[in-house]
Amino acid sequence: MYKMSLMPLFTAEAIQEMVQLLGEKIARNYKFDTIVGLLTGSFVFVSDLCRHFPDPKIKVLFIKASSYGDSTESSGKLDVSLAKDLDISGKKVLLVDDILDTGLTLQGMVKFLQEKGAAEVRSCVLLEKRARRKADIKADFVGFSIEDGFVVGYGLDCAGEYRTMPDIWTLEPET
Ligand code: XMP
Repeated sequence: MYKMSLMPLFTAEAIQEMVQLLGEKIARNYKFDTIVGLLTGSFVFVSDLCRHFPDPKIKVLFIKASSYGDSTESSGKLDVSLAKDLDISGKKVLLVDDILDTGLTLQGMVKFLQEKGAAEVRSCVLLEKRARRKADIKADFVGFSIEDGFVVGYGLDCAGEYRTMPDIWTLEPET
């Protein structure tokens, strides 16, 4: 069993500042036409981030990639769904996820989008844990780098819970 840390790791204010910085940096450096968000964890991040891109023609799509189930450890096996009618052929995609951990999800999804015909795929994550990387991949745009530990809030969950909290918290084992 897990409990929330006493203090948030990142407050809602710190998150909004980082999202604004990321949005401005991406807008300066990458002209893309489609945002692909990974459900479910990135839904809050995508909705805040996309409002920093003034181009009205940018489209927002979501697909689901899961490897965790109800556990805090990745199964390593990627299950992609909601992508049956995905039309990204020739598109310049900004792939958005909440957190880059082992890297297996991002690596798998970049490959998946390339195989679907995307002209270019660059990635953005709000959080990354460098220590646990298994796949040889870096995100193009990264918000916060954090130590190992399971984090929740701002869309991130544990067994479906904690997603609605505006701050990001660390989960600690209950003693
Ligand atoms: P990998 O290991 O494939 O993980 O890079 C990426 C996906 O795993 C989920 N993930 C987490 N979710 N707190 C969460 O709520 C975490 O600390 C965490 N670490 C990984 C996340 O869904 C991400 O898409």
